[in-house]
Amino acid sequence: MNLYQFIQFEKLGHIERESFPIDLKKINLFRRILIKEKDFEIFKLNFKNYAFIVKGNDKKTIDNVNLSTESTLKKMLDYKKGFPFNYQFGQEKGTLIPYYGSKKNRRNEGNEVINYILENDNIKKVCDLFAGAGNLTFDNLFYFHKYNPNMKIIMNDFNIYISSMYYNIQNYVDEVYEEYAKLIFWLKNEFNELNLTTDKQYQKVQQYLLEELNIQSINNDYTPKTTALFIFLQHISRNGKISYDSETKSLEYDSFRNESAPYQCLNFALVVNKIFFYHEVLNIMDIEIVNNDYNNIIKALLNENVLLLVDSPYADYDAETLKSGGENYQKNVNTEIDFGNNFNQSNLLNYLKIHQERKGSFIYWNNHHKDIQFFSTEHLNTHYIKIPTKYADSNRIKQEIYMYVQYLTIEDIKEFGMIDEDIEEYEYQKSLIKNCEIELNEEDFAELEQAKQNIYYYIDMYKTINKDLPFQLLKYEKEYNEYKDGLPEF
Ligand SMILES: C[S@@+](CC[C@H](N)C(=O)[O-])C[C@H]1O[C@@H](n2cnc3c(N)ncnc32)[C@H](O)[C@@H]1O
Repeated sequence: MNLYQFIQFEKLGHIERESFPIDLKKINLFRRILIKEKDFEIFKLNFKNYAFIVKGNDKKTIDNVNLSTESTLKKMLDYKKGFPFNYQFGQEKGTLIPYYGSKKNRRNEGNEVINYILENDNIKKVCDLFAGAGNLTFDNLFYFHKYNPNMKIIMNDFNIYISSMYYNIQNYVDEVYEEYAKLIFWLKNEFNELNLTTDKQYQKVQQYLLEELNIQSINNDYTPKTTALFIFLQHISRNGKISYDSETKSLEYDSFRNESAPYQCLNFALVVNKIFFYHEVLNIMDIEIVNNDYNNIIKALLNENVLLLVDSPYADYDAETLKSGGENYQKNVNTEIDFGNNFNQSNLLNYLKIHQERKGSFIYWNNHHKDIQFFSTEHLNTHYIKIPTKYADSNRIKQEIYMYVQYLTIEDIKEFGMIDEDIEEYEYQKSLIKNCEIELNEEDFAELEQAKQNIYYYIDMYKTINKDLPFQLLKYEKEYNEYKDGLPEF
């Protein structure tokens, strides 16, 4: 079940699958009516109704819209009771904000592991230490709930704009919407339009939003207004890329959308839906929002039965020593133990080591780096999985990793060694034999046999202690059974 289905189910008791399109002509008519509105209070109500209708999934309403004249549409926009909360936008898989480094394209690899950890370790609490756009928490909410309906969930990020965004949407959703509507109203009055299409328009809006945000930050105001400004800016910045200075709490936006990516009235409507949708999401599991440097909260978590989701700033892929991925995190670094000169991965990894020793669970994402791999094998005994990934801005491939600890007991894991490395070896030996044109000798076959036996050994171990196989081994179960069946009985 994905997040949208989960929330639909929790709120409605069933899942709406269908969506019903509105004629483009009617959408444009709605837009023209909205553009003419001079009174903010009326605009605020109308825009919210519009946002829910055009992204709606209520067939009766949509049928009505498609048949309606301008005066009926006006009445719909004026409907004081408002339209019921809209669950349909989820079809678009909208993350709350576009965010540089977000996990929105890497949802599946982690999820399988998280599901596995939840199934096998008795997790009471989950902490997304570097929450960002929150996809790791949001994508797995259904699993958290499935394995423990009372799961305590914490989302932390030291970027105060991020944390206050969650907090405000959770607690002051109407105020956030009101502030967002004010911004759209301002934009409409400025351009007599509800689309952003030209470079000039973009520049003007960006400048306005940044100036307003700066005033908020100088005054230390992280209110619903700040949140509305922040969400708006993230949406019109390419890839949602920002730099955040944790000391001055200031933001810099260096790459904006341009006219080749017009931002339309429908996009604004989608944001409105997201604000209300994520209000439900944050409240349904009563997620706790924290704004802190992870260093200040991790120690307390290490004594508990907690699953840590660890998606820290990435190590530079090509760098000799570990650095963070180019954003401004220097101010927060504890330089005592440091692989490189920016975000202190080593410090973080050492915490994970303690967590593991106390039988805590975690899953950690990063770019592949030899120092991380070394730490993983030598100190952590974790599963270290490489995933070929395209760079966001080119077709070049790099290796990302996730690593996790999956419990039987610490002793079992030590005994088992590194399953993933052996799987890699087995697959490699198989491919050699399959693709080889020259004649193979006995030694080659012995290598393959050894690699195979290593895999079978793991499967044996899991079966001996009556544990389900971890997902990486499942695909070898059939051949393992056939092999066992072929052995003579003693
Ligand atoms: C790679 S992003 C996380 C992306 C996130 N998983 C998502 O799906 O959007 C890293 C996040 O860590 C935050 N961060 C960086 N240093 C931190 C620190 N010392 N403590 C807490 N958060 C930090 C950044 O603000 C950023 O949002």
